[in-house]
Amino acid sequence: MLPYQMRTFDGYLDAYRRSMEDPDAFWADVAGHFNWHRKWDFVSRSDFDNAQFSWFGGAMLNITENCLDRHLEDKGNDIALCWEPNDPAKAVRKLSYRELHREVCRAAEMLRWQGICKGDRVCIYMGMVPELVIAMLACARIGAIHSVIFGGFSAQSIADRVEDAGARHLICCDGAFRGAKEIALKDIVDDALVRCPAVANVIVFRHTGCPVRMLEGRDHWWHEVMLNVDDQEALQHPAESVDSEDPLFILYTSGSTGKPKGVVHTCGGYMVYTAYSFANVFQYQPGQIHFCTADIGWVTGHSYIVYGPLCIGATSLMFEGVPTWPDAGRFWHVVDRHRVDILYTAPTAIRSLMSFGEGPLEGKDLSSLKVIGSVGEPINEEAWQWYHDQVGKGRCPVVDTWWQTETGGILISTLAGVTPQKPSFATLPLPGIFPVLLNERGQEVTALHENGYLCMAASWPGIIRTTYGNHERCRAAYFNQFPGYYFTGDGAYRDENGYYRITGRIDDVLNVSGHRLGTAEIENAINEHPEIVESAVVGFPHDIKGQGIYAYVVHTPDIAQPDALRNEINETIARFIGPFARADKIQFVSGLPKTRSGKIMRRILRKIAEGETQQMGDVTTLLDPGVVEEIALNRL
Ligand code: WT7
Repeated sequence: MLPYQMRTFDGYLDAYRRSMEDPDAFWADVAGHFNWHRKWDFVSRSDFDNAQFSWFGGAMLNITENCLDRHLEDKGNDIALCWEPNDPAKAVRKLSYRELHREVCRAAEMLRWQGICKGDRVCIYMGMVPELVIAMLACARIGAIHSVIFGGFSAQSIADRVEDAGARHLICCDGAFRGAKEIALKDIVDDALVRCPAVANVIVFRHTGCPVRMLEGRDHWWHEVMLNVDDQEALQHPAESVDSEDPLFILYTSGSTGKPKGVVHTCGGYMVYTAYSFANVFQYQPGQIHFCTADIGWVTGHSYIVYGPLCIGATSLMFEGVPTWPDAGRFWHVVDRHRVDILYTAPTAIRSLMSFGEGPLEGKDLSSLKVIGSVGEPINEEAWQWYHDQVGKGRCPVVDTWWQTETGGILISTLAGVTPQKPSFATLPLPGIFPVLLNERGQEVTALHENGYLCMAASWPGIIRTTYGNHERCRAAYFNQFPGYYFTGDGAYRDENGYYRITGRIDDVLNVSGHRLGTAEIENAINEHPEIVESAVVGFPHDIKGQGIYAYVVHTPDIAQPDALRNEINETIARFIGPFARADKIQFVSGLPKTRSGKIMRRILRKIAEGETQQMGDVTTLLDPGVVEEIALNRL
């Protein structure tokens, strides 16, 4: 048991009180259980007006020593990483802490050989293989900043991210397996890098064995450059000592503008917060197997497959495949095969598996499960109940964990078996987290069951530090709306117990199958099609995806085939963003409802997409009210 793990509700209340009375003392206590090269001069400093936050100021450390080296003595032979391949017939890979440590040291040496230095940005586009984790940790070991790009993103999206990060190095795989599909990742990288002449170095890990083109001088095989590395030297090379506030990684996420933001997290605070939240929310006990089904291309994978679990010496299981291949019993097979203790997945996966009924669960032994978790979007009661009854067999606490890429780790959640749970409620904040609900005028909403904007009244170690290359954007997006607060972009209310229920985004950000997408981003992609004049994208409730994408599109006169154009529009979206951003519904309209100043009235379009075609609210400010009638009449 970890000293900062709360084990009872009273323990939680006590910790919460301590965190309120003296936050710095509270966090210093937690941070005392990590390895630092140099102790901090101060615990925290916050300047909300300028969006400037530091944690463990002046401290020096290397996060990978906390993830690896410090476990070698006691847990060197324990499994750190267990890899379940896409194809269940292929071999599982297990890396002990000693083995993972050695691989990370070797990969770090390889990166040094390739001329990568502290502070350099390294983009990683690999799919779910152990070498992805090794590559991330190798970057962290030498003080380079990794930016993992989800394997579903298109060449254009890779190029945008590589360019924004100013990366001159990229690590990828030849290909990736995804269910029955094989994806040629290196080909996509080649397309992307045509637009990124600054990238001088590409390291390719061979995974699928598919044919790839290697550009002389730029592209290198991972296994070949690894031949330069002397294992003894690699093991002896000390990890880079970095400042607590040096960046650890950049992770791009969507906002309400067309351009994704590079969320920056730093070493000390992120380390402390992911380990602290992991240990407490999931109540991890030594020897347990933690299976987070997320892709490491998203923050959930960063925090709860890689950094959080490894920091506390857990066994983390990573899964290459998809929930429904070869059949809808795949997760249950993995749980059974590895005797998984903790399962952490997304509502969209739960709803999708629920739609197959109980058949796929039959014959699977899920008795090893102790805690089951949900993340990424509000979980509806029906899915919660099914998860609780059919997967947890009514005996596992369900943790509905609310957080964001920007928060680094879980802020509001039940602590498994320690604090109460309630279907579709994220429930209570972790000690050290101080949520408030504000109304439009910035006043606190105190009434029960009344919706407000969810904000945080104080900083915590995992808070976003900046948006890469543009600090003003960070300030404007999160700290401007309500001075003195971090603004989440979510709406929420509280029940009579003070439990939080998150109701969803209140900005133009969609959450489609747990993937975060900006409506403006999708519109920009659609507008790239030569036959499209303009478009407006909104979300609508979708049984499995949570939210679906509804696009209203104005095309040029005289198009031949509306259905062919619909396909082309989706091809365009796939090309500019990625296949996962395809529109579920595309309605051709003669015009969009706009105010006299030219602003699209999304409120109306949202209502129509949701199926409300009568009560449209005030349309008198519209330039052409007639267009609303037409759109409502032809709704898909
Ligand atoms: C947005 C953040 C958190 C890691 C994965 C997604 C929504 C997330 C919950 C939850 C209701 C949730 C919010 C949030 N969200 N978890 N338990 N209940 N909504 O990270 O891509 O940064 O998305 O996901 O709307 O703002 P992300």
